[in-house]
Formats: sequence, C-alpha cells, structure tokens
Amino acid sequence: MNPTVGGTGPLPSGPTAPEPLHQEPAHHERVGAPSVAELVREGAARLATAGIATPRVDAELLLAHAARTDRAQVVRAAILGAALPTDGGQVALEVVGDYRELLARRADRVPLQHLTGLAPFRHLELEVGPGVFVPRPETEQVAQVAIDEALAAVASRGAALVVDLCTGSGAIALAVATEVPGAVVHAVELDRGAHAWAERNVAAVHAATGAVVHLVRGDARTALTGSDGSCDVVVSNPPYVPPGAVPHDPEVALHDPQVALYGLGADGLEVPRGVTARAGELLRVGGLYVMEHAEVQAESAREMVAATGLFDDIRTHADLTGRPRMVVARRAQVSVGTRRS
Ligand SMILES: C[S@@+](CC[C@H](N)C(=O)[O-])C[C@H]1O[C@@H](n2cnc3c(N)ncnc32)[C@H](O)[C@@H]1O
Repeated sequence: MNPTVGGTGPLPSGPTAPEPLHQEPAHHERVGAPSVAELVREGAARLATAGIATPRVDAELLLAHAARTDRAQVVRAAILGAALPTDGGQVALEVVGDYRELLARRADRVPLQHLTGLAPFRHLELEVGPGVFVPRPETEQVAQVAIDEALAAVASRGAALVVDLCTGSGAIALAVATEVPGAVVHAVELDRGAHAWAERNVAAVHAATGAVVHLVRGDARTALTGSDGSCDVVVSNPPYVPPGAVPHDPEVALHDPQVALYGLGADGLEVPRGVTARAGELLRVGGLYVMEHAEVQAESAREMVAATGLFDDIRTHADLTGRPRMVVARRAQVSVGTRRS
C-alpha cells in the first residue's frame, strides 16, 4: 500500500457506456454553460489549492464522472473547445453543479476513487467506497509476480492453485483469475465491510468475464483448512503499517479502514507474521510466497519469512520506482523438527 492516492492510473469510466461530448465550436456554447476547458481549469486550481498531488487529472476524472463520460472525452473536448452535452443549457448546468459538488468533496480530501466509485487495478475496474482499502498501483506488481508463477504452474502441470490472503476489494485474486486461464483462485478477507465489496467485485467480474474467485470470510492466519501443502502460489498485501506511523495523506489516514492499514505489534508485522506462517502451511514444496511490505520493512520482512524455517530463496523485489516493496520466497522441503516456530 502507498499513502498516496491520486488519479494517475488507468481511467475510470462512468457506470454506463461513455457518451461522447458534443463537438460544437466554442462560439456555439450557450451563455451560462462554461466550456470544458474552463471547468477543468477551475477544478484543477481548486484542487491544487487543497494540496491534491494530481489536480488536473483529478479534475478531468471528476468532470468525466459528472458528465457520465470518460476522461479521454473530457481531455479531447477541452483541447477542441467543445461543449458539454446540453439541452438548452439544462443538462450542462446539472453536470456543472454535480462537478462542483464533487470538487468540494475532493478538496476535503475524500479519495478520488470513493467519488467515482471505481479503482483501476491492472486491466480491471473495481468497485470501491467507504469500508474497503483502495487498491494501489504498486500492488499491481505484487500481483504480477503471482501471475507469472501461476502461468508457469499451468504451463508445466496444467493447473495452478492460488490463494490471496487479505484480499480487500478482491484486487489481486481477480487479477490472477482473469489473467491466468486454468488457475483456481481462493481469496480470504476478515473484515465484514471489505468482504462485502469483494463479493460485489467477484460477482461483477464473473458476470463480465466468467472468471471465478472462491471468496471466504475469515482470518487469513487460520483460513482454508484442508488445503495445506497443496497451493502453488500464496500472495498477500496484508496490513503492515506500524502503530506510530500514521499515514500523512488524509485520504489514507481518514478513509482507508484501520484494519487494512495497521499490521499490529510494535513493528506492524504481527498480522503479516501470521499470514506468512499460514502461507508456509498452504504451499506445496517449491510453491511461491509473495507479500507486499513497506519500503522500510525489507530486512525485517526477510527475517520474518526466514524465522518460520519453512522457506528458502528469500528475496526482496523492488517496485517500478526501485523501492524494495515485496518479499518473495519458495516453500522449502523441511525435515521434521526443522521448523522454528
Ligand atoms: C492493505 S489491505 C489490502 C487489500 C488488497 N489485498 C489490496 O491489495 O488492495 C489489507 C486487507 O487485509 C484485511 N485483513 C486485515 N487483517 C486480516 C486478517 N487477519 N485476515 C484476513 N484479512 C485481514 C483488511 O481488512 C484489508 O482488507
């Protein structure tokens, strides 16, 4: 997870198919209906004043959401000097009103994704809102490691059993299920609210693509009894923030659920320790474990994995910006009595 929430990922669209913005020359615009370019400038200035890191992108996305279109149409209309859809100015003014309301809430640091109701994750658009952690771009790479391993398992054995512990919105599990044909994917979430969001996403993605995720509500540290020693990949982005490290951005500190952020224990790794121990039990010998952590936890995460006595080939992987953000390890062949705790 990353304390930054902004509108830099792929673009959310409205709940219905995008409607193209009318391409009328600027001089045809009706009095009282501001141009798209003016609205974007106004929004970007307002959000910049509020300290939003990506004010123009957020303004474009919010205008697109209010106008039930997509950001590309807003950008195009702003460049071409086109008008918003109008009906004697009526619709445009409604859109402008909705847009300004959204701007006010974003300026109050409500996460962009809570306002649009959607969060991009790899090729998916997931439904999110209060009560669920908003999936972050860096977790897309954690998912990539799991996907690569699952693809290799399917190629060599014809199947792959993959488990996503602490699934939140279902992001990682759904990415694997949609990108790895032949994978059987299970996902575990403890929190009732987050589990409800995951249920919605699992159902929506299944309806759209046919992909299946077996979702259970429960504690990742004890879940999926009966699957021990059978999994090819266990992947997790658990809560891992230490108790004193309150995230700086209000979008994170005030809007991501506490249970999604704080990993408990003095180092924030109490929950990850339990998740790691469970991963060691679930994986077959040679199976892969991948777990996201904070940049400052690279060494302690490797030590945490090693302390189970269940893994070898324990490595830290960097994210696209070069920051150490995940621990990756293979389930070792362990002789009786070797396990450390
Ligand atoms: C950092 S969020 C990550 C969510 C999702 N994996 C993602 O990457 O977007 C951690 C998630 O773990 C859940 N969680 C916390 N403790 C848990 C536990 N003991 N067992 C299962 N899930 C847990 C939280 O409710 C939250 O949804």
